[in-house]
Amino acid sequence: MKFAALLLFLILPGHVLAQDREFTLSAPDEIVQSGFLQHLLPRFSLKHGVRIKQVADGGDVAIGAEGLPVFVGLGTVWHVTQNDADGSSLFIDWLLSGIGKRTIAGFQPDGVPLFTAKIVVEVAIADIAFDGDPVQGQALALARCGRCHVVNETNRMNGMGQAPSFAVMRGITDWRNRFATFYVLNPHPSFTQVAGITPPFPANLPPAIVPIEVTQDELEAILAYVATIAPADLGAPLQNQ
Ligand code: HEC
Repeated sequence: MKFAALLLFLILPGHVLAQDREFTLSAPDEIVQSGFLQHLLPRFSLKHGVRIKQVADGGDVAIGAEGLPVFVGLGTVWHVTQNDADGSSLFIDWLLSGIGKRTIAGFQPDGVPLFTAKIVVEVAIADIAFDGDPVQGQALALARCGRCHVVNETNRMNGMGQAPSFAVMRGITDWRNRFATFYVLNPHPSFTQVAGITPPFPANLPPAIVPIEVTQDELEAILAYVATIAPADLGAPLQNQ
Protein backbone atom coordinates (compact mmCIF):
# COMPACT_ATOMS: atom_id res chain seq x y z
CA MET A 1 0.00 0.00 0.00
CA LYS A 2 2.70 2.38 1.05
CA PHE A 3 4.69 1.32 -1.97
CA ALA A 4 1.75 1.93 -4.31
CA ALA A 5 1.25 5.39 -2.89
CA LEU A 6 4.89 6.19 -3.32
CA LEU A 7 4.79 4.92 -6.89
CA LEU A 8 1.83 7.15 -7.69
CA PHE A 9 3.62 10.10 -6.21
CA LEU A 10 6.65 9.42 -8.37
CA ILE A 11 4.71 8.86 -11.55
CA LEU A 12 2.03 11.50 -11.30
CA PRO A 13 3.96 14.75 -11.53
CA GLY A 14 5.87 13.61 -14.61
CA HIS A 15 2.72 12.32 -16.17
CA VAL A 16 0.72 15.45 -15.51
CA LEU A 17 3.48 17.62 -16.91
CA ALA A 18 4.24 15.32 -19.83
CA GLN A 19 2.60 17.35 -22.60
CA ASP A 20 3.55 20.63 -21.05
CA ARG A 21 6.18 23.16 -21.71
CA GLU A 22 9.84 23.02 -20.78
CA PHE A 23 12.78 25.38 -20.76
CA THR A 24 16.38 25.09 -19.64
CA LEU A 25 18.02 27.02 -16.83
CA SER A 26 21.63 27.59 -15.96
CA ALA A 27 23.09 29.09 -12.80
CA PRO A 28 26.55 29.65 -11.34
CA ASP A 29 28.01 26.83 -9.20
CA GLU A 30 27.49 28.71 -5.94
CA ILE A 31 23.75 28.84 -6.55
CA VAL A 32 23.57 25.22 -7.69
CA GLN A 33 25.58 23.99 -4.70
CA SER A 34 23.49 25.95 -2.21
CA GLY A 35 20.52 23.68 -2.98
CA PHE A 36 18.39 26.75 -3.70
CA LEU A 37 17.28 25.53 -7.13
CA GLN A 38 15.86 22.29 -5.73
CA HIS A 39 13.73 24.46 -3.51
CA LEU A 40 12.75 27.05 -6.10
CA LEU A 41 12.24 25.26 -9.41
CA PRO A 42 9.82 22.48 -8.39
CA ARG A 43 7.55 25.01 -6.73
CA PHE A 44 7.29 27.00 -9.94
CA SER A 45 6.85 23.86 -12.07
CA LEU A 46 4.12 22.51 -9.86
CA LYS A 47 2.19 25.74 -10.02
CA HIS A 48 2.55 26.45 -13.73
CA GLY A 49 3.04 23.03 -15.30
CA VAL A 50 6.27 24.14 -16.93
CA ARG A 51 9.26 21.86 -16.53
CA ILE A 52 12.70 23.33 -15.98
CA LYS A 53 15.74 21.38 -17.05
CA GLN A 54 18.99 22.45 -15.41
CA VAL A 55 21.95 22.79 -17.74
CA ALA A 56 25.59 23.71 -17.02
CA ASP A 57 25.43 26.97 -18.95
CA GLY A 58 23.67 28.84 -21.71
CA GLY A 59 20.19 28.03 -20.42
CA ASP A 60 17.04 29.66 -21.80
CA VAL A 61 16.96 31.29 -18.40
CA ALA A 62 20.39 32.22 -17.08
CA ILE A 63 20.97 33.32 -13.51
CA GLY A 64 24.12 35.40 -13.19
CA ALA A 65 25.45 38.93 -13.34
CA GLU A 66 23.34 40.19 -16.24
CA GLY A 67 19.73 41.11 -16.79
CA LEU A 68 17.01 41.86 -14.32
CA PRO A 69 17.98 41.92 -10.62
CA VAL A 70 15.86 39.25 -8.93
CA PHE A 71 17.33 38.23 -5.61
CA VAL A 72 20.20 38.87 -3.23
CA GLY A 73 22.23 36.27 -1.37
CA LEU A 74 25.74 34.88 -0.85
CA GLY A 75 26.92 38.50 -0.93
CA THR A 76 25.73 39.22 -4.47
CA VAL A 77 22.77 40.62 -6.36
CA TRP A 78 21.69 37.88 -8.77
CA HIS A 79 20.26 38.81 -12.12
CA VAL A 80 18.39 36.82 -14.66
CA THR A 81 18.13 36.85 -18.45
CA GLN A 82 15.79 34.81 -20.60
CA ASN A 83 15.35 34.17 -24.31
CA ASP A 84 11.58 33.83 -24.45
CA ALA A 85 11.61 30.03 -24.59
CA ASP A 86 8.34 28.36 -23.70
CA GLY A 87 7.36 29.39 -20.20
CA SER A 88 10.59 31.21 -19.39
CA SER A 89 9.01 34.67 -19.18
CA LEU A 90 6.35 33.18 -16.93
CA PHE A 91 9.18 32.08 -14.63
CA ILE A 92 10.55 35.63 -14.42
CA ASP A 93 7.08 37.03 -13.70
CA TRP A 94 6.70 34.40 -11.01
CA LEU A 95 10.08 35.27 -9.44
CA LEU A 96 9.00 38.91 -9.26
CA SER A 97 5.54 38.14 -7.90
CA GLY A 98 4.59 38.02 -4.23
CA ILE A 99 4.54 34.21 -4.27
CA GLY A 100 7.91 34.07 -6.02
CA LYS A 101 9.43 36.43 -3.48
CA ARG A 102 8.04 34.43 -0.57
CA THR A 103 9.36 31.24 -2.13
CA ILE A 104 12.81 32.81 -2.48
CA ALA A 105 12.76 33.86 1.19
CA GLY A 106 11.40 30.43 2.17
CA PHE A 107 14.69 28.70 1.40
CA GLN A 108 16.18 28.44 4.86
CA PRO A 109 18.64 25.55 5.02
CA ASP A 110 19.73 26.31 8.61
CA GLY A 111 16.62 28.16 9.67
CA VAL A 112 18.03 31.37 8.19
CA PRO A 113 16.97 32.65 4.76
CA LEU A 114 19.91 32.46 2.36
CA PHE A 115 18.30 34.61 -0.32
CA THR A 116 15.91 37.53 -0.35
CA ALA A 117 14.05 39.31 -3.11
CA LYS A 118 14.37 42.57 -1.19
CA ILE A 119 17.10 44.05 -3.28
CA VAL A 120 19.02 46.50 -1.16
CA VAL A 121 19.25 49.81 -2.94
CA GLU A 122 22.94 50.44 -2.23
CA VAL A 123 23.89 47.11 -3.71
CA ALA A 124 21.59 47.55 -6.65
CA ILE A 125 23.02 50.97 -7.46
CA ALA A 126 26.51 49.56 -7.60
CA ASP A 127 25.37 46.62 -9.67
CA ILE A 128 22.97 47.89 -12.27
CA ALA A 129 24.94 49.34 -15.13
CA PHE A 130 23.25 52.05 -17.11
CA ASP A 131 24.23 51.26 -20.64
CA GLY A 132 21.31 53.17 -22.03
CA ASP A 133 21.46 56.51 -23.79
CA PRO A 134 19.71 59.14 -21.63
CA VAL A 135 18.87 61.35 -24.62
CA GLN A 136 17.09 58.52 -26.38
CA GLY A 137 15.58 57.62 -22.99
CA GLN A 138 14.04 61.05 -22.60
CA ALA A 139 12.39 60.87 -26.02
CA LEU A 140 11.12 57.37 -25.28
CA ALA A 141 9.80 58.32 -21.86
CA LEU A 142 7.91 61.29 -23.31
CA ALA A 143 6.47 59.17 -26.11
CA ARG A 144 5.57 56.04 -24.16
CA CYS A 145 5.09 57.12 -20.54
CA GLY A 146 4.20 60.78 -21.09
CA ARG A 147 0.61 59.91 -21.87
CA CYS A 148 0.06 59.41 -18.16
CA HIS A 149 3.16 60.57 -16.30
CA VAL A 150 4.57 64.07 -16.26
CA VAL A 151 8.07 63.21 -17.45
CA ASN A 152 9.49 66.75 -17.32
CA GLU A 153 8.60 70.36 -18.18
CA THR A 154 7.92 69.41 -21.80
CA ASN A 155 4.74 67.48 -21.02
CA ARG A 156 3.90 69.20 -17.77
CA MET A 157 0.27 69.74 -18.77
CA ASN A 158 -0.31 66.26 -20.18
CA GLY A 159 0.00 63.89 -17.25
CA MET A 160 -3.01 62.19 -15.70
CA GLY A 161 -3.81 62.83 -12.07
CA GLN A 162 -3.34 59.31 -10.71
CA ALA A 163 0.10 58.83 -12.21
CA PRO A 164 2.95 60.30 -10.16
CA SER A 165 5.42 62.50 -12.01
CA PHE A 166 8.83 61.08 -12.88
CA ALA A 167 10.45 63.63 -10.56
CA VAL A 168 8.37 62.37 -7.64
CA MET A 169 9.15 58.74 -8.44
CA ARG A 170 12.84 59.64 -8.84
CA GLY A 171 12.71 60.73 -5.20
CA ILE A 172 11.74 57.24 -3.99
CA THR A 173 14.79 55.39 -2.64
CA ASP A 174 14.24 52.27 -4.72
CA TRP A 175 13.27 54.11 -7.89
CA ARG A 176 15.70 51.99 -9.93
CA ASN A 177 13.94 48.77 -9.02
CA ARG A 178 10.55 50.27 -9.62
CA PHE A 179 11.43 51.60 -13.05
CA ALA A 180 13.29 48.42 -13.99
CA THR A 181 10.22 46.36 -13.14
CA PHE A 182 7.47 48.91 -13.89
CA TYR A 183 5.83 46.48 -16.31
CA VAL A 184 4.88 44.14 -13.47
CA LEU A 185 3.69 46.96 -11.22
CA ASN A 186 0.06 48.04 -11.54
CA PRO A 187 -1.48 49.46 -13.61
CA HIS A 188 1.08 48.64 -16.35
CA PRO A 189 0.78 44.83 -16.82
CA SER A 190 -2.63 45.13 -18.50
CA PHE A 191 -1.28 47.37 -21.28
CA THR A 192 2.50 46.89 -21.38
CA GLN A 193 4.64 44.51 -23.39
CA VAL A 194 8.39 44.23 -22.93
CA ALA A 195 9.94 42.29 -25.78
CA GLY A 196 11.51 39.08 -24.50
CA ILE A 197 10.13 39.47 -20.97
CA THR A 198 6.36 39.71 -20.78
CA PRO A 199 4.08 37.04 -22.23
CA PRO A 200 1.70 38.22 -24.98
CA PHE A 201 -1.63 39.64 -23.83
CA PRO A 202 -4.18 36.84 -23.45
CA ALA A 203 -6.21 36.58 -26.68
CA ASN A 204 -9.47 36.88 -24.75
CA LEU A 205 -8.26 39.90 -22.79
CA PRO A 206 -6.80 42.50 -25.14
CA PRO A 207 -5.61 45.71 -23.47
CA ALA A 208 -8.44 48.19 -22.87
CA ILE A 209 -6.22 51.12 -23.87
CA VAL A 210 -3.51 51.72 -26.47
CA PRO A 211 -0.74 49.38 -25.31
CA ILE A 212 2.87 50.41 -24.62
CA GLU A 213 5.63 48.35 -26.15
CA VAL A 214 9.23 48.70 -25.04
CA THR A 215 12.34 46.63 -25.61
CA GLN A 216 14.86 45.93 -22.83
CA ASP A 217 17.30 48.35 -24.51
CA GLU A 218 14.65 51.05 -24.57
CA LEU A 219 13.91 50.43 -20.90
CA GLU A 220 17.62 50.78 -20.14
CA ALA A 221 17.63 54.08 -21.99
CA ILE A 222 14.63 55.24 -19.95
CA LEU A 223 16.43 54.23 -16.74
CA ALA A 224 19.53 56.13 -17.88
CA TYR A 225 17.37 59.19 -18.46
CA VAL A 226 15.52 58.88 -15.13
CA ALA A 227 18.93 58.75 -13.39
CA THR A 228 19.52 62.30 -14.66
CA ILE A 229 16.23 63.70 -13.29
CA ALA A 230 16.48 65.76 -10.13
CA PRO A 231 14.26 64.14 -7.47
CA ALA A 232 11.24 66.25 -6.56
CA ASP A 233 11.27 67.86 -3.15
CA LEU A 234 9.27 65.37 -1.12
CA GLY A 235 7.67 68.20 0.81
CA ALA A 236 5.95 69.32 -2.39
CA PRO A 237 2.57 67.99 -3.53
CA LEU A 238 2.91 64.51 -4.94
CA GLN A 239 1.25 64.98 -8.29
CA ASN A 240 1.97 66.69 -11.57
CA GLN A 241 4.92 68.78 -10.70
C1 HEC B 1 -1.91 54.55 -19.20
C2 HEC B 1 -1.21 55.28 -18.18
C3 HEC B 1 0.23 54.96 -17.88
C4 HEC B 1 1.28 54.81 -18.75
C5 HEC B 1 1.25 54.91 -20.27
C6 HEC B 1 2.46 54.56 -17.93
N1 HEC B 1 2.13 54.56 -16.61
FE1 HEC B 1 3.39 54.32 -15.05
N2 HEC B 1 1.86 54.50 -13.72
C7 HEC B 1 0.55 54.82 -14.08
C8 HEC B 1 -0.22 55.02 -12.85
C9 HEC B 1 -1.71 55.38 -12.79
C10 HEC B 1 0.66 54.81 -11.77
C11 HEC B 1 0.35 54.89 -10.27
C12 HEC B 1 -0.03 53.54 -9.76
C13 HEC B 1 -0.32 53.56 -8.30
O1 HEC B 1 -0.09 54.56 -7.64
O2 HEC B 1 -0.75 52.52 -7.82
C14 HEC B 1 1.95 54.48 -12.35
C15 HEC B 1 3.08 54.18 -11.60
C16 HEC B 1 4.34 54.00 -12.13
C17 HEC B 1 5.53 53.66 -11.37
C18 HEC B 1 5.57 53.44 -9.87
C19 HEC B 1 5.06 52.05 -9.63
C20 HEC B 1 5.14 51.62 -8.20
O3 HEC B 1 4.33 50.74 -7.82
O4 HEC B 1 5.97 52.13 -7.46
C21 HEC B 1 6.57 53.58 -12.25
C22 HEC B 1 8.02 53.26 -11.92
C23 HEC B 1 6.05 53.84 -13.57
N3 HEC B 1 4.70 54.09 -13.46
C24 HEC B 1 6.81 53.85 -14.72
C25 HEC B 1 6.28 54.00 -15.99
C26 HEC B 1 7.09 53.99 -17.20
C27 HEC B 1 8.61 53.85 -17.22
C28 HEC B 1 6.23 54.16 -18.24
C29 HEC B 1 6.56 54.22 -19.71
C30 HEC B 1 7.43 53.23 -20.28
C31 HEC B 1 4.88 54.24 -17.69
N4 HEC B 1 4.96 54.16 -16.33
C32 HEC B 1 3.73 54.38 -18.46
C33 HEC B 1 0.05 54.94 -15.35
C34 HEC B 1 0.78 54.81 -16.53
